[in-house]
Amino acid sequence: MPNRLDLPAGFRWGAATAAYQIEGAVEEDGRGPSVWDVFTTRSGAVRDGHTGAVACDHYHRYAEDIALMKGLGLDGYRFSIAWSRILPTGTGPVNPAGLAFYDRLVDSLLEAGITPLPTLFHWDLPQALEEAGGWLNRETAYRFAEYATLVADRLGDRIPTWITLNEPFVHTVFGYALGTHAPGRTLMFEALPAAHHQLLAHGLAASPLHERGLEVMLSNNLTPVWPASSSPEDAAAAEAYDALHNRLFTDPVLLGRYPDLSALGVPDDIYGAVRDGDLDLIHTPRLDGLGLNYYNPTRVAAPTSPGLPFDLVDITEAPHTAFGWPVVPDGLRQLLAGLRKTYGEALPPITITENGCSVDESTTPDHPRIDFLATHLDALAQAIAEGADVRGYYTWSLLDNFEWAEGYHQRFGLVHVDFATQRRTPRASYAWYRDLIAAHRARGER
Ligand code: FCB
Repeated sequence: MPNRLDLPAGFRWGAATAAYQIEGAVEEDGRGPSVWDVFTTRSGAVRDGHTGAVACDHYHRYAEDIALMKGLGLDGYRFSIAWSRILPTGTGPVNPAGLAFYDRLVDSLLEAGITPLPTLFHWDLPQALEEAGGWLNRETAYRFAEYATLVADRLGDRIPTWITLNEPFVHTVFGYALGTHAPGRTLMFEALPAAHHQLLAHGLAASPLHERGLEVMLSNNLTPVWPASSSPEDAAAAEAYDALHNRLFTDPVLLGRYPDLSALGVPDDIYGAVRDGDLDLIHTPRLDGLGLNYYNPTRVAAPTSPGLPFDLVDITEAPHTAFGWPVVPDGLRQLLAGLRKTYGEALPPITITENGCSVDESTTPDHPRIDFLATHLDALAQAIAEGADVRGYYTWSLLDNFEWAEGYHQRFGLVHVDFATQRRTPRASYAWYRDLIAAHRARGER
């Protein structure tokens, strides 16, 4: 069985973060409010009323954080750009101080020998755009393309590859369908126009990025879907869930069409959101790489009550992370095999843009994280041996950070952060990852 040291030579090692989860400094240098600044003030929205107002104070401590990345020997760093730092109201005049922060960040990364991999949208929509309808408003897609273009004009000379969106599935479902994330809407399936408009935003931004000679990726949260039994009812429920979680966000981009959403009761034109020509706009700009965020598989059964066309069932036989997510490394291999089967020649090279786990703070050393990373990287090596084209791996996350509705309770970092003092302390998993990267590189050089 191949293992992680057998990952191909030139395989890129990275770590990932996102702006609202680490930056803090939410009112500094002209940054405008985002939906998360507003959502976190809602009573009961986030555990213990935590907010990202300070987070890891990365806005001021980025140099220290880059030194930590350099200590790991990373090839690449995935971060996100806060739209409302660049355009405080989402559109209109540029805030030069906001752009200057990312300019400094990018230059410092390059000086450390680390390739920046920015994500243009990781859920922190400028609040002013939310007030105009957010992602339910088609216009937001056009504002995104303008924002992407101007950021690329400023930073594209130093950054070869760009991720447009992070996990439109999670943003749509948690933010617009269930209301557990910002902007906190509870529209159930009527949230899906927000998905279409995000995909349209991706397509509209991809062309100007390509014209500037840049590569474009999209990071999707994908999950292998396991029917709870071999019954046709469970198989149908699993298919409906797969359409919603996976295919809705990947088929339009790679195949130029939506999957059949009839089992979900969703009309083909997604409640009138899909207009003539939209699928071309989404599909025609080539996707240079698919970003894959993998955390766990999903077991699905036929519904036991009216409402949703599926039930989600826990994977009880697997160990669970501190967050309660099942740990199934082979799910990553299954997912990669499934993507090859579904998309064939249409599937671009893949980069794992997130994978990792939260571990209880009191668990030191953080051996469960080391086991998680080691077993997932072994599964990845196996997938590549079976034919998957995977170019790199960005673990979530470099630092403990603001984990959305869970506040600071879920700790995903290779580096522990004491949020009272901002002191960073590398964990055992940090040393382990550093040593793995060095050993893998040494093998390639032999
Ligand atoms: C992903 C998000 C990321 C982080 C991890 C744990 O869904 O993209 O920001 O919260 O989960």
